[in-house]
Amino acid sequence: MKILICEIFFLLGISTLNAQDGHELWLRTKKALPVHVICKQNSPTLAIARQELQDGWQGLPGATIALIIKKNKAVKADGFTLRENAIQANSDKGILYGAYDLLRNQQTGGKAKGGINNPSYQFRILDHWDNPDGSVERGYAGNSIFWRRQDPFTVTEKEKRRWQEYARANASIGINGSVLNNVNASPLILSPDYLNRVKAIADVLRPYGIKTYLSVKFSSPSQLGKLKTSDPKDAGVINWWTAKVQEIYRVIPDFGGFLVKASSEGQPGPQDYGSTHADGANMLADILKPYGGIVMWRAFVYTSNDKDRAKQAYNEFMPLDGQFRDNVIIQVKNGPVDFQPREPFSPLFGAMKKTSVMPEFQITQEYLGHAVYLVFLSTMWEECLQSDTYQQGKGSTVARCTDGSIYPRKYTAIAGVSNIGLDTNWCGHQFAQANWYAFGRLAWNANMSSAQIAEEWLKLSFYNAPNEKSDSANYASGWEKDFLLPVKQMMLESREAAVNFMMPLGLHHIMSAIGHYGPGPWWAPKGMRADWTPPYYHQADAGGIGFDRTKKGSDAVSQYHEPLGSQFDDPATCPEKFLLWFHHLPWDYKMKSGRSLWDELCYHYDSGVQQVRAFQMVWDKAQPYVDSTRFMDVQRKLRAQSMNAVLWKDACLLFFQQYSHTSIPNDIERPVHNLDEMIANDSRRGKP
Ligand code: GCU
Repeated sequence: MKILICEIFFLLGISTLNAQDGHELWLRTKKALPVHVICKQNSPTLAIARQELQDGWQGLPGATIALIIKKNKAVKADGFTLRENAIQANSDKGILYGAYDLLRNQQTGGKAKGGINNPSYQFRILDHWDNPDGSVERGYAGNSIFWRRQDPFTVTEKEKRRWQEYARANASIGINGSVLNNVNASPLILSPDYLNRVKAIADVLRPYGIKTYLSVKFSSPSQLGKLKTSDPKDAGVINWWTAKVQEIYRVIPDFGGFLVKASSEGQPGPQDYGSTHADGANMLADILKPYGGIVMWRAFVYTSNDKDRAKQAYNEFMPLDGQFRDNVIIQVKNGPVDFQPREPFSPLFGAMKKTSVMPEFQITQEYLGHAVYLVFLSTMWEECLQSDTYQQGKGSTVARCTDGSIYPRKYTAIAGVSNIGLDTNWCGHQFAQANWYAFGRLAWNANMSSAQIAEEWLKLSFYNAPNEKSDSANYASGWEKDFLLPVKQMMLESREAAVNFMMPLGLHHIMSAIGHYGPGPWWAPKGMRADWTPPYYHQADAGGIGFDRTKKGSDAVSQYHEPLGSQFDDPATCPEKFLLWFHHLPWDYKMKSGRSLWDELCYHYDSGVQQVRAFQMVWDKAQPYVDSTRFMDVQRKLRAQSMNAVLWKDACLLFFQQYSHTSIPNDIERPVHNLDEMIANDSRRGKP
């Protein structure tokens, strides 16, 4: 009976809210007020800006707004200025971004930033790890929106509509580039049939100011062109790429350029031919240069021969600093290993002083709970962007080292690995949309706070203006108190919660090998490359836990500029959040809290679990303000996240306890799983 009453109450509670499935993202249709838009010029992009203003105007009814394209040297790239009755920019793209900014301010009650609004990065790019067969590597939101297995070269109206919606969403947050295929690239992508499809996609994205790029396989000349070699110094190979680039620009005149994963994780590259990364990147850059194209060359390289994977990208790329063409940008993941829940920033940021370097973030939650966990990644990216590298003195943050403020560069860029797929809500998890949104906002303004981003996104995605049908007084007063503030707080804490229940205190790469979801600190099959197994990273033994990267260990600390190198080297000064990243410490090592390392680890795991349990309560309390589909969707996923958090805690504590030989503090909830069963279940789940 009680259950029935609750359900009736629940149904009543939601009945006044419009049905939402999340497909409209942060651009939900609103009833617009009248506005006059004046613009002397005309272009498809300006037409979109005009239409958006007319469809979404929430300002003074009957106002007039002028769209003015006029050169202003202080306005950079596609920046803009907003005045009370005008948007001014150097280009039609600038006008479009100004229009979206104005509408966002109206809808979120934000104050339009007067003066000049320039983007931090010139190229703000989404990398899609989409394969020509329609699958998405590390994708958790359905198949690719760009490619499909069946009838792969027919372009339907439905697909074009979706590409347009995608382009609009990107433009609304300032994203201006899309790499359409996986970095583990198929050579097929450069075949005429696929290029025709790229053209169709580019035609839809173009009016929204979005350029298309492709990931290319370095061995394409031999695999696709049937040449004997793909040696970057071979004249035939250079001719092949030259003809291919010409063919691409013939069909896509504003093509952006190539993204290349080379000599990395088994991918072919210049090193196969005794050449360097610089030789390979420059060969492509020279060919793209006459067209204004760029090469984004990834620094995600490591072999199994080195004792410390975290050091390798730096060791390989630093000697090449200054050797790259000015249209090559080295794409560097935020941390030195691989998109872990927490890593210190990659030491390449700021260290490469004569080369363009762009940060690569992972929007898709490969290591952060797929489309199951609610994790707002903005705080993680903010942490990286605001990290001080000290490379040019205090204040040399990662953002300032890469956005052109410290090292002026011809091109600046930032990339995010997309979490988008064919799912109705695009991202698999309703709150994963906030990560797409946050990436765009930070790419535009690397100094924005995550709190502001979360607040904007919540208002745009969830706020329903009271109308006569709903209980407007209650709604308006409760919305801020019971929805906006607690849900925003939940978002801001969510990444730390995930770090706590997965890999606290600098632990990393201890996930299950099976799809990188769930715990797997034990995973080390015979014959497996050590640097692909968790024990390589946690190094747990009777003497303690953690990876010794001090001067006495792998000496990764020396890749950081002083005073950071010394700070990281000494456990007393190393921030505790990175402690086990840089140190192997005894189980009874005394932490700042006065607890032993073992106890501290236990409390971190437990607090992560408790945080997710609290998120469940926050969400249930927010129910009256959320439509049923999205409410239940998130509720269901928080439940799964809670269960998985307990699994993480139990697995890691019971596994590490075999080495610490110390009991779990008594005021912490006891494990509810059995270690042997967890290990058996993990290996039963199939192949990675
Ligand atoms: C990770 C990820 C791979 C991906 C690689 C990359 O290792 O698991 O799927 O290909 O990163 O960034 O290239």
